[in-house]
This record gives sequence, structure tokens and C-alpha cells, in this order.
Amino acid sequence: MDSPTIFRWKSDPFIRRMAGDPAVPVQLEDERQDIERSAGACEQLYLMVVLRETEQPIGYVRVNWMDAGRRSAWLRFALGEHRGHGYASDAIQCLLARLFREGTHRVDAEAYEFNHASLRLLERLGFRREGVRREAHFDGQRYADVVAFGLLEADFRHPERGQCLPRADQPSGPTALSP
Ligand SMILES: CC(C)(COP(=O)(O)OP(=O)(O)OC[C@H]1O[C@@H](n2cnc3c(N)ncnc32)[C@H](O)[C@@H]1OP(=O)(O)O)[C@@H](O)C(=O)NCCC(=O)NCCS
Repeated sequence: MDSPTIFRWKSDPFIRRMAGDPAVPVQLEDERQDIERSAGACEQLYLMVVLRETEQPIGYVRVNWMDAGRRSAWLRFALGEHRGHGYASDAIQCLLARLFREGTHRVDAEAYEFNHASLRLLERLGFRREGVRREAHFDGQRYADVVAFGLLEADFRHPERGQCLPRADQPSGPTALSP
């Protein structure tokens, strides 16, 4: 049911540039199979972000656990609509709270060096910049660095010890997650 929506978002040249590989075509059938696979896989979580009041889908957040003990997770996310309102921060915070509550120890994420919204978002959520994979991304025309981030459960529970950046207009929960 969600695959045409996700297909539409991932076909957007902005999302392809910021979160994907512009050289690889997005196919509706691939998205359908991806959702189906993740729904049946205990090492994956693929959630739609919806506006709380209208339940309009506006994006997705997803994780892959990288070990059998589900202690280390890989985070990916995108908003297809309503970017620029702080909704991603809200949704990812909900997801992180759930992951750490359920025993995840560490969350990894990556962002291209030119994805300033994502870099800023991850840092404000408390993720630490842990390294740079130099020129690890090629968009068909040029190389870009990939910035690697990590967030430990302790960073999330005690942001005062880390580098979590403040946001003046913290949203008051306008989003929700739905499977
Ligand atoms: C990344 C993304 C999820 C952010 O979601 P969002 O809710 O729209 O986030 P915001 O617009 O509130 O931006 C997050 C922060 O980045 C800042 N920001 C946004 N665009 C920026 C830019 N071009 N330069 C510098 N900072 C920028 C915002 O001011 C905000 O900072 P603040 O919290 O201190 O105010 C969204 O832009 C998106 O879906 N992008 C395409 C897909 C993508 O990049 N996915 C992540 C792959 S790693």
C-alpha cells in the first residue's frame, strides 16, 4: 500500500541526490519488494512518518540491525513532503527512544558532505561525527565525502555529556510513526 508513495518520494531528484544514487533508477516493483522483505525480517524496521492530526504520510524512517543481538542499528530516513518543519527530528527522536528502550546500544548513520540539513539534524540529535569516508560517494559526475556518525545509548540518555545542538523552536510532537 505504501510502495507507490515511497516510490514517488524516492523518484524526486532532490531525494535521489541527498539520500540515494542518482545513477540508479528507482523502480516501483523494487520498492514493493523492499517493503515486503522488511516487513518479514526481524532485523529490519521500516516505518512511515505521518502527521499526527491527519495521518498524512510525509516520509519514512528505517533501521537495519547489524548483529544478531540487535545491539547495533543502521539508520536511514527521508521526508518526501513537509521538509523544513523539524518533523524529521521529531520522528527520529521517537524511533531512537524506541530502539534504546528495546536494548539497542548504538545507532550508525551516514550523510553526504553536501547534505547540510541531514548533517545538522544528526548533530543536533546528539550523533557524533566519527569519521569521513573520503570521496566514497560518486553521483555519476563527481565524488563526495561521506560523513559517518554514531550515537550511543548513553549519548541519547545524557545529551548534556555530548554535543547535542539545541534547537530554539523544538516541535511539540506533530508527527507519529506507523508500520
Ligand atoms: C534530511 C531531512 C530528513 C531533514 O528533515 P527536516 O525535518 O526537513 O529538517 P529541517 O529542515 O528541520 O532541517 C534540519 C536542520 O538542518 C538545518 N538546515 C536545513 N537546510 C540546511 C542547509 N541547506 N544548510 C544548513 N543547514 C540546513 C535546519 O535549519 C535545521 O537545523 P535546526 O534544527 O538547528 O533548525 C530532509 O531534508 C530530507 O528528507 N532530505 C532528503 C533525504 C535525505 O537527505 N535523507 C537523509 C540521508 S542521510
